Amino acid sequence: MTITALRTLIRTLIPGTLLVSQLALATEADVGQTLARQAGIPWPAVIAHRGASFDAPESTAPAYLVARELGADYLELDLQRTKDGQLIALHDDTLERTTDVAKRFPERAKAPVSQFTLAELKSLDAGSWFNQAHPDRARPKFAGLRILTLDEVIDIAEGGRNKPGLYIETKQPKLFPGIERDLKAKLTQRGWLGKPKAGATGVAAMPGRVILQTFEKGSLELLQKEMPDTPKILLLWLGDDYIPAKPGPTYAESGEASKAAYYAKQQVRSEGDFTAWIEWAKAHGAIGIGPSAALEEGGDQSYADLVKPWMNDVAHERGLLVHAYTVDSAVDYARLAPRGVDGFFSNRAAELLKFYERPAKQAPAALLKQLGY
Ligand code: G3P
Ligand code: CA
Repeated sequence: MTITALRTLIRTLIPGTLLVSQLALATEADVGQTLARQAGIPWPAVIAHRGASFDAPESTAPAYLVARELGADYLELDLQRTKDGQLIALHDDTLERTTDVAKRFPERAKAPVSQFTLAELKSLDAGSWFNQAHPDRARPKFAGLRILTLDEVIDIAEGGRNKPGLYIETKQPKLFPGIERDLKAKLTQRGWLGKPKAGATGVAAMPGRVILQTFEKGSLELLQKEMPDTPKILLLWLGDDYIPAKPGPTYAESGEASKAAYYAKQQVRSEGDFTAWIEWAKAHGAIGIGPSAALEEGGDQSYADLVKPWMNDVAHERGLLVHAYTVDSAVDYARLAPRGVDGFFSNRAAELLKFYERPAKQAPAALLKQLGY
């Protein structure tokens, strides 16, 4: 049954005006669930953004281990490549925020990740920054944590009783020509493309055990060329080179108190522009979109609201799933999920699992202790 036929059927079966809002919610959930089933992707999806990165330093071993033990569906990571060609998991394109690069390599403190060998990156402390930034969540064992290779994240995904999938973003792909091909080679070598391994369980046994994500149209095309059968998500952003925004002041000109307040006022230039972007994604291999969200409490991960109900409708009508980033609070889950969101990227997978009524047996703090941190 097509998505349009499913909508029509549900609307026919539940007549009357009193039920209109409930009907809209039920319809979007049914549509999303159907699309997820067709793609072999868990619904609703719990995507541990840089691991359990509220509780442990982002993209490090404890962050991914806790996410796995909690029962997150996916370990999310940002893919970059070292000077000597190794694939690693790191978000920022420089090392200053999350390592001691300024101490270890002061002359290259602002240099891009691509100018460091793996051995140099492995000599950095990728955990102490977290203890300083979050004293309430600090742990002595976080000091000296290492940046991880993609291989090491895969080892973690494969290494426990829970078997999460991998949700891999090509980060700044223009800086890493050929990274899509390198990723295909690594996933092939590790047996993550093609049929699931014999005896696989959990998300690791599903067709959507790897999802590829990118903000860049060019990288989506390359991912599609290299891995046509692997699900792909086009991440959404508003502004120059991305979805056109209504003209307005820059942040500096706007006088807004925070970037979150500025982003929250941004609007797409037109429904037509948004729809054309989504249709391009569909035509170039995406099975879903990853829109930004404006969060209730603001903060540095609160961006333009690209999860308006009509936007999710546009995606669902074209057969695309909606995975929104990066949402950590129950208030926001309750506000955004009924709009037709099929899963969230979250730094707090434990909170999202609670919201989806799949609570983990142990809290992140207990798991960290058990894991020796
Ligand atoms: O990949 C989804 C979300 O992670 C996009 O934002 O900047 O955290 O990679 P970012
Ligand atoms: Ca990401």
